[in-house]
Amino acid sequence: MNILLLGSGGRESALAWKMRQSALLDNLYIAPGNGGTSQYGTNVAISPLDFEAVERFVADNDIQMIVVGNEDPLVAGIYDYFAERRPQLLVVGPSKAGAALEGSKDFAKQFMMRHGIPTARYRSFTAQTADEGCRFLEQLNPPYVLKADGLAAGKGVLIINDLAEAQQSLRDMLGGMFGKSSATVVVEEFLKGIECSVFVLTDGNGGYRVLPVAKDYKRIGEGDTGLNTGGMGAVSPVPFADDEFMEKVRTRIIEPTVNGLIADGITYRGFIFLGLINVEGNPMVIEYNVRMGDPETEAVMLRIDSDLVALMQAAASGNLADMELRHNPATAVTVMMVSGGYPGDYEKGKEITGLDTVTDSILFHAGTKATDNATVTSGGRVIAVSSLGQDMDQALARSYASVAKIDFDDKYFRRDIGCDLK
Ligand code: AMP
Ligand code: GLY
Repeated sequence: MNILLLGSGGRESALAWKMRQSALLDNLYIAPGNGGTSQYGTNVAISPLDFEAVERFVADNDIQMIVVGNEDPLVAGIYDYFAERRPQLLVVGPSKAGAALEGSKDFAKQFMMRHGIPTARYRSFTAQTADEGCRFLEQLNPPYVLKADGLAAGKGVLIINDLAEAQQSLRDMLGGMFGKSSATVVVEEFLKGIECSVFVLTDGNGGYRVLPVAKDYKRIGEGDTGLNTGGMGAVSPVPFADDEFMEKVRTRIIEPTVNGLIADGITYRGFIFLGLINVEGNPMVIEYNVRMGDPETEAVMLRIDSDLVALMQAAASGNLADMELRHNPATAVTVMMVSGGYPGDYEKGKEITGLDTVTDSILFHAGTKATDNATVTSGGRVIAVSSLGQDMDQALARSYASVAKIDFDDKYFRRDIGCDLK
């Protein structure tokens, strides 16, 4: 089959790498892709948000399946657009109604309440109810968690220790700190524990498969310090997500989510990303995303032994029930190499050297661009260096040895990926 993958990051590189291994795949196109995705298919200069251009490409190139890598097109309704115009085309991803699990935190919280899914106690406020919001904060214990309802490029969550400061921030958010995204703000109880990311592929008919569990590293600095980033590394599996924990995840979270979507009449044939926190052995939901995680995908794909194209095709056509998703028992580790200065300002266009000297890792390009005679940096997160090992130490040793072979001006990476789990 011919597949169009939408996106341009490390996650899409990893999805493309894995799809390329499938005997079911004929042509793979990546829109817009990056300097590395052309190893697996053909990059096409189309914005995933330009549905009409995507549709023309689908028609001209006999595309049978679209895989949506990032959330924006899903939240904007790409599933519904094609369901109406090209019902034969398979689209891996939720309908617009389902994408609201990520597109609106208030919607996600209401969904969890409705279906009895464990999550932090919360209330939502708008500018009209700001005073009530300030009184609600007084009832909570610090730190206080404030979340912009809408998409805010990963920046819409504030965690604040001081009550007066939290009250002021609530007013600032409602006053437009994140534009329209924070016209509604979710205020919730702080949960203490270690986080992990669980990925579920669902077919909209109650069938689902759970992918290998991963943990990502969000902060720029070692020891989880400094600013939040799009992700500095990932590991899979996660030692605390053992059989007992995963059984709780399955019965308390995955099944109520999958069945809740059906009960609510929401079409969802794609990946559900459960951002979980382990609170004294009990999983609780921090957030839903409606796509795979980045950089978790760059680790997770190494641990899937089954055919990803076959699995996604089954999910998008509503029959996952007979499919097997085999996990590789090895450990996968991803170390993200980033541009110096990220997540603040950084320079682009730096030549990357040493890429073809790496043999023990898989290099998933994220922010790179191919020029006539070089690969150069074009983003904050540049290359995800992923390795398998028989244990975490071996996988880490491989990734860090590969990182040492790759160079670009002002490169930075965290040296402590996985250390908190050892
Ligand atoms: P989100 O955008 O919802 O993923 O939130 C960003 C990050 O804030 C999460 O990955 C958590 O580390 C943290 N966070 C969000 N909500 C809570 C909460 N209720 N308790 C503790 N930490 C939280
Ligand atoms: N790694 C977190 C995310 O993809 O949102």
